[in-house]
This record gives sequence, structure tokens and C-alpha cells, in this order.
Amino acid sequence: MTRISINDLSSFKQTKKRFTMLTSYDSLTASLFDELDIPVLLVGDSAANLVFGHDTTIPVTVEDMLPIVNAVARSTKKAMIVADMPFGSYQTSKTQALESATKFLKAGAQAIKLEGGQRVSETITSLVEAGIPVMGHLGLTPQSVNAFGGYKVQGRGEKANQILEDAKVLEKAGAFSIVLEAIPADLAKEITNSISIPTIGIGAGPDTDGQVMVWQDLVGLTPDPKPKFVKRYLNLREEISKVVKEFSQDVESGKYPDADHLYK
Ligand code: KIV
Repeated sequence: MTRISINDLSSFKQTKKRFTMLTSYDSLTASLFDELDIPVLLVGDSAANLVFGHDTTIPVTVEDMLPIVNAVARSTKKAMIVADMPFGSYQTSKTQALESATKFLKAGAQAIKLEGGQRVSETITSLVEAGIPVMGHLGLTPQSVNAFGGYKVQGRGEKANQILEDAKVLEKAGAFSIVLEAIPADLAKEITNSISIPTIGIGAGPDTDGQVMVWQDLVGLTPDPKPKFVKRYLNLREEISKVVKEFSQDVESGKYPDADHLYK
């Protein structure tokens, strides 16, 4: 069985077929999302927060991410697996970026994602020339949280043009798609109409070619406060809390295990 490729994503854009990308960090969710025909799974550096308990994505390393990429790749057959390049794994030199990206492809990813505009364009070109598909990421790029002074909407007012220009630069550099995070919907629409590669929005309104969501946000597992763009389709945090309390009460009262749940 062949996996979704960068050509499939390109034809989604040409035929105006909107598509979904979900984050995934473990075997069970990866295999489930793959069964459900989610075309792209992102092993996001949001693993820093969601798997490793950090406050930002900055501390996570290539070594932290590799086993996760490997598990997600091993557990899927159809989806394109995109590995997020951690902060500090591609900024030093093109050689460093190539070495990091190579590790992710050897772990089973088909593409990598990295953050930034003009400043990473030469890195993108050298990765693409080495045969490594690159997804860009513009707008609220979480690895730059300290430079932004917090998690704030980007590209309002005069700053919009810079993001539009960066999107054009990334396309020219050879990126096969671009994540647009937390930017005004009108700007995301303009970018999407100005470039020929697919845009994937998160907090970027309805007019990007695809949408990406952190799966724990989608099902309400992440605690409050939630970003404005997150629509919780389920309150899994509440559901799990109920079940865990009930189980613990049953253990304490001796109600579990009952006759139906033991070996004779
Ligand atoms: O790491 C991540 O989860 C991401 C998405 C939010 C796009 O970069």
C-alpha cells in the first residue's frame, strides 16, 4: 500500500479538496487516525508540552522525538508522516539541518516540518535538493515564543505583508506545503490564493487548503484555557475523570473486580 504523497496534497489543492492533518504521538492514535483515512499525521514538537510536560516546545530534542516518529510510522500504512524539527536542530547550518532531517526520515517520516520564513529558505532548498520534502510553518511559530513575547496572533496590520512574502519565499525555496498558525483569516485566504502549494491552517480561518489540529484539543483532553480557534468536539477530560473516580471508588469498596472479571 502506498502512502499519501506530496503529489496527492498538491492535487488536493488543485481540485479544491480540503484535507485534515492531525498530530499524533503514539501507536494507538496513529493507527486509529490512519484507519480513519486522515491523510497527514504530524509528529509535532508540541510533544514537548503534551508528552514530556514542558511549558514550551523549546526543550524537546531530536532524540526525544525519534522514538515517537518511529512508533507513529510503524503503526500506520496510508498517512504521510511529517516529523517536526525541534528548536536548535536546523538553525546552526544546512549540514545540521540535513543530519537532523535524515534521522527523521530513517525513523520512518516521509517529510519534515520546520518553522520560519526567509531566514530558513536556503535550508529548505538544500533539504529539498537532498530529496527531503519540507513543510513550512509561518505565523505564530511556537519555537519563537520568546521573540514574540508570548503566544499572540501574528500578521495583523502592517505585519501581514511580511508573512505573505515569507509564504512566497518558502514556495520558491521548494516547500511542498505551509502551516499557517494564528493569523487573521483574511491574510490566510490571501496567502492561500497567492501560492500554488497547499496551506494548512490552525487558527487561520476557513480558507486554507487544509486544517491541522492537536488531537488532544479536538477531544477536550487538554485543560483550560483553550485557544479561541479550538473547537472541542468532546469533553474527554471530563469523561476520563468520571471513569477514573468510579474505578477508584469500586476498588476501595471491593465492587471491582466482580465475578465477571476474574479467572476461575
Ligand atoms: O507541533 C505542533 O503540534 C504543530 C502544529 C500545531 C501545527 O506544529
